[in-house]
Amino acid sequence: MRFIKTLLCALAAAAAVGAAHAQAYPAKPITWIVPFAAGGPTDALARSIAERVAREVGQPIVIDNAPGAGGTIGAAKAARAAPDGYTMLVGHMGYMGAAPALYKKLNYDPVKDFEPVFRFPDTPLVLMVRKEHPARNIEGLIDFGRKNPDKLFISNAGVGSSSHLIAALVASAAGIKVTLVPYKGAGPALVDVIGGQVDGIFDQTNTALPQITESKVRALAVTSKVRLPQLKDVPTLAETVLPGFEASTWYGIYAPKGTPKAALDKVQQAYLKVMTDKTFTDKMSAQAIQMLPTEQYTGAALGKHTEAEVARWKAVAAKTNISLD
Ligand code: MLT
Repeated sequence: MRFIKTLLCALAAAAAVGAAHAQAYPAKPITWIVPFAAGGPTDALARSIAERVAREVGQPIVIDNAPGAGGTIGAAKAARAAPDGYTMLVGHMGYMGAAPALYKKLNYDPVKDFEPVFRFPDTPLVLMVRKEHPARNIEGLIDFGRKNPDKLFISNAGVGSSSHLIAALVASAAGIKVTLVPYKGAGPALVDVIGGQVDGIFDQTNTALPQITESKVRALAVTSKVRLPQLKDVPTLAETVLPGFEASTWYGIYAPKGTPKAALDKVQQAYLKVMTDKTFTDKMSAQAIQMLPTEQYTGAALGKHTEAEVARWKAVAAKTNISLD
């Protein structure tokens, strides 16, 4: 009888602690790790969403840029963080999808080491070249690449970044050999296209559109299935050189495995509320960011999507020579 009484007291105490954590959380600022340099599309999208989610949860969300190795350094840092709800990862298709297929040694497992919290909307990419490049359209660029193997310098955010993956896939599908030039993020990688140090980049629309509007680069093609309203004169890869080709960068927030469910639920509910705010979603759409059906934003949906993407990229890497340089 004494044992049962003790057990009941212990259970009641544990429930009280859990409830107290739930009520108190978050009691201090939350950190979101962005594994790319500031100023790139992942950083920009994360800051837009963090600012609105912070308002809903009542604590600041601080962005910690931890670049390097295509985002895998920042992802490993997040996997090792305390599972207390105060550190989360801004994940994306590269280091949370393709990386297991590309890196022989990875210091984390995108599925086993994380709790998926919620998915961001997707961003298609735009292929842009420096203004002085002779290619005036995508066909001309492919032709240049065929005639000048390894002489087309395409910048990216490191092995496994979306700018790297999509450039490698397009080059392989078009049968041309390009030189992939890695940076610590698409931010600095784009600066060197504008400056003319490299020839081109595939960059997400939220950071690409302003540079195109200001005529600092020339847009040749988009990776979306259909043309983007913001770039009506820019053809898709699918309608020109790669029939059926479509690609976007997907993203999501992940917490270290073992983070209390109450914390995950609180942040997820805040996000889902933000995504019903038309002022916010219109701002996203104006950057050609692609809203998803609400049910795809949940942690459960992100978890299933992550597992499917890890498997898909293993199959892609097996049949496509995605360069690891
Ligand atoms: C970035 O934010 O730097 C980009 O998302 C990196 C990439 O995926 O190319």
